[in-house]
Amino acid sequence: MRDVIAAPVRRSGHLASSRDLDRTTIDDLLPRAGRMATHPGEAAHRLQGKILATLFYEPSTRTRFSFESAMLRLGGQVLSAADAMSESSAAKGETLEDTVRVVAEYVDGIVLRHPEKGAARRAAGASRVPVINAGDGAGEHPTQALLDLFTIQQELGRLDHLRVGLAGDLRHGRTVRSLGLLLAHFPGTELILIAPPELQLEADVRDQLREAGVTLRDEPDLGEAIGELDVLYQTRIQRERFTSPAAYERVRGICVVDPVMMRRLPPGAILMHPLPRLDEIAPAVDADPRAAYFRQARNGLPVRMAILDWLLGPA
Ligand code: CP
Repeated sequence: MRDVIAAPVRRSGHLASSRDLDRTTIDDLLPRAGRMATHPGEAAHRLQGKILATLFYEPSTRTRFSFESAMLRLGGQVLSAADAMSESSAAKGETLEDTVRVVAEYVDGIVLRHPEKGAARRAAGASRVPVINAGDGAGEHPTQALLDLFTIQQELGRLDHLRVGLAGDLRHGRTVRSLGLLLAHFPGTELILIAPPELQLEADVRDQLREAGVTLRDEPDLGEAIGELDVLYQTRIQRERFTSPAAYERVRGICVVDPVMMRRLPPGAILMHPLPRLDEIAPAVDADPRAAYFRQARNGLPVRMAILDWLLGPA
């Protein structure tokens, strides 16, 4: 078997967007993540002597813990600001750029979550070490997208000619934006955009997807689309991104997957969700073998190990 841990992977400076991942890099990172999953001990010293900072200006469970666990499992160490908005000098009014410029002097890489779209790219411009976007407002979440690709490949055995339903809050959901951009690298991708008009995917990503040859279809009714999908990617309505509670209440609960809806999902299809979920997937669905979302969350660890090794590891 090829030693994918030691295999050279082309390295870029930062991972601010799915646009920073070309097909060659994706094709290197996915098997590298697979090897991390099956042989984690092989990589136990890859990042020995390196330090990762996790700067989180928004809450997180999966992304922060899996990045920190990944760094520790690679032999590195972690400095963490789990609530950087109140516990770093941001609370005194320091700019993101100044904070990142200084933290970059102490560490070898920075994982950043921030409420503002574009924050990761701004931070990358101020940093002398790699910046990894762990979610920038309604912008992107590229490492989630990579673990989503990994999950689809593991579950379905392929990434080409897939009909993927992206459901829920496509306007504010950064995971669907990043996932769409990665799926665009694979031939025959069809995306069914399952959302009411006020929560539909924005034009910037649509234009890029169409240019890349992705077939897009808007479908406001989940029940109409679900029977023809290979993957249903459900998302949470992002309450924190709405301008008023009333605007959120108008769309809350518009798209729910329950056991009755699951009867219409094809037997060979899977149900994914980046998590956390609220009421958009009923807990009664969890026992269905097609419910892949907790396996998906588990995949965050080897995928983030592969990403850290790519950006911070020996060349
Ligand atoms: N999927 C995801 O980003 O989860 P967290 O917000 O818990 O990190």
